Amino acid sequence: MKLTDNADLRPYNSFGVAARAACLAEIEHGEELEPATALAEERGLPVLLLGGGTNVLFAGDFPGLVLLMRNRGVEIDRESGVVKAAAGENWHELVRTCLEVGLYGLENLALIPGSAGAAPVQNIGAYGVELESFFVGLELFDCADSSLREMSREDCKFSYRDSVLKQSQVQSRLQPLSPPQPQLRVVCSLTLQLPREPAPNLSYPALAEELEHVAKPTPQDVFEAVCRIRRRKLPDPAEIGNAGSFFKNPIISQDEFEQLSSRYHSPPSFPAKEGVKVPAGWLLDQCGFKGYEKGAAGVYERHALILVNRGGTTGRELHQLAMEMRDSVRSEFGITLEPEVRIIGTH
Ligand code: EPU
Repeated sequence: MKLTDNADLRPYNSFGVAARAACLAEIEHGEELEPATALAEERGLPVLLLGGGTNVLFAGDFPGLVLLMRNRGVEIDRESGVVKAAAGENWHELVRTCLEVGLYGLENLALIPGSAGAAPVQNIGAYGVELESFFVGLELFDCADSSLREMSREDCKFSYRDSVLKQSQVQSRLQPLSPPQPQLRVVCSLTLQLPREPAPNLSYPALAEELEHVAKPTPQDVFEAVCRIRRRKLPDPAEIGNAGSFFKNPIISQDEFEQLSSRYHSPPSFPAKEGVKVPAGWLLDQCGFKGYEKGAAGVYERHALILVNRGGTTGRELHQLAMEMRDSVRSEFGITLEPEVRIIGTH
């Protein structure tokens, strides 16, 4: 375990904003979690877990211990389709590896930035597929009693961009967490079960459109199409600081959707369990946020749901911009957007 006091967090968040942590612990083996959290307790520090740092906004410094999961290793049983990956593995590389060995299903989730361990926390999803469809279970370290435990798919209680693991880490409003996690649980590894037979999922309209000229798309075609769409629509965090979708897509009632449709011609929508899901990107676009700039904080010019760091902005400025966007959608549509990213830090 490598420990750094007064650590610079800029390399560990995809927004690339400056922030400091009282201490940073880089974890290479699950066994290091116990001494790391014991150290935090000894020093009276709150603990924050970071995977790839691709879904977090530091609105200020974090006055505690940041745990960075860097454990590696992938075990694949091609016969049974069971894949076990260490939390510190890169998600996109895992998707590619599975495809290469002939295990399918994850191709729609290509190019999602971040680590494998972070994937179940918010039940990552894209282009018609959510992680939960292939999820078997995970191993975690529970800081409450320093025990290693297993969680099944049922235990995780997955829903749209959510799980019990996320609920213990995030508030649903735009308030920074300080200090977070009364009961931190650290994902050490996850196990998936993937089909050996290709069954491309083209249910997402933009993906079907991208592949309409291909007679019988293979999982490799889907993988490449998803990569193409994402590269076209979303900024690469290595070039422009961002954390993907900043807000979740809100779910509104059928009545509310009808009211919306009477004011706007054919708003995009997706059926959801509890009502109708309306793209937050579309709502923000109607409010004029696409390409909006506020100093070096801004909104991507090709997608109104993506906040970007144009170079040298602060987490605080990005947070203020997010609140302005939320307020604008609330006054225009009466809909309150909830952040998808974790917001950390004090003002
Ligand atoms: N739209 C606009 N203007 C915009 C952005 C979007 O009108 O500025 C419209 C689009 O034309 C489309 C609809 O909104 O009709 C939906 O847009 P898109 O297909 O880009 O998907 P999204 O709902 O914005 C979600 C996920 C993405 C995921 C894509 C593809 C959420 C919050 N976001 O985006 O996930 O990649 O679908 O499945 O669910 C992420 O979580 O970081 C992420 C990028």
